[in-house]
Amino acid sequence: MSAYDRLTILVPPAVEESVAAELWRRGTLGLELADAADGRLRVEAYFPAGAGGAVDLSAWRGRGVEVVAAETFAERDWLAAYRAQARPFDVGRRLRVDPRDPSAATPPSAGDRVLLRIPARTAFGTGSHESTRLALELLEALEPAGLEVLDVGTGSGILACAALRFGARAVVGFDLDPAAALIAGQNARLNAVAPRLFAGRLAALRRGRRFDLALVNVLPGKIRREVPRIAGLLRRGGRAISSGNLEGERVSVLAAWAGAGLEPVAERRAGEWIAFLLAGRP
Ligand SMILES: C[S@@+](CC[C@H](N)C(=O)[O-])C[C@H]1O[C@@H](n2cnc3c(N)ncnc32)[C@H](O)[C@@H]1O
Repeated sequence: MSAYDRLTILVPPAVEESVAAELWRRGTLGLELADAADGRLRVEAYFPAGAGGAVDLSAWRGRGVEVVAAETFAERDWLAAYRAQARPFDVGRRLRVDPRDPSAATPPSAGDRVLLRIPARTAFGTGSHESTRLALELLEALEPAGLEVLDVGTGSGILACAALRFGARAVVGFDLDPAAALIAGQNARLNAVAPRLFAGRLAALRRGRRFDLALVNVLPGKIRREVPRIAGLLRRGGRAISSGNLEGERVSVLAAWAGAGLEPVAERRAGEWIAFLLAGRP
């Protein structure tokens, strides 16, 4: 694994959500939180080498946020430590996600839940981030059995795997990041499902291909221009889940989807994060 930066900060609980949102916006690979002795939270934020130093938290200084250390570490698999101590966790009413290393861990008992094994690697989407959890909850609620699904920005492939485990007929997933598409393939095999995966852009999809549902957990700034094309790939009455949105982006995100003919029919929130289920005209 490549070199990385670690930013250690003390954060009053009142501003935890907004500081965490800012760190995710600035490209953190993951956050570790612990209680500090003075009642604040000790947050360790990991970044690709060089990116941690560019994070500016000066706006929070007056609200009790304090930077304790900004360090750079040489190459190592820092997620190995996370995988070793991580525990399976439940999402929604039907899923259990296991982020541990599959070679080291016996699968947990999932009871009547669907078990997804998604070892924490660099590709986004172990299920611990709010935007992934919200998308999974909306996906579970709409019962995708029998649907053909497009997973835009598949990351770890977690949404693609969940859709297939919930009975989707077929899933096509893609990501700009070639490493993500590879890792998503490994995760699909681990979960005994077979989405069609590729690295690249929407434009690489076969012409004429249509879907019942699009899963889009991508920051609005990175996907807004592609919303009309995604909507154009949906069958009549097709639906989309849009996640990765902050509450402050609600109006512009919904305007982009409305411009493409889809209106919100449900939404879920966690802290500052918001996800929408959108539907086209039947
Ligand atoms: C927030 S992650 C979501 C990963 C996973 N789907 C989940 O829900 O956890 C967003 C992913 O979208 C990818 N991405 C960003 N812009 C994209 C675009 N225009 N087309 C395809 N993938 C994109 C990123 O590389 C990243 O892997």
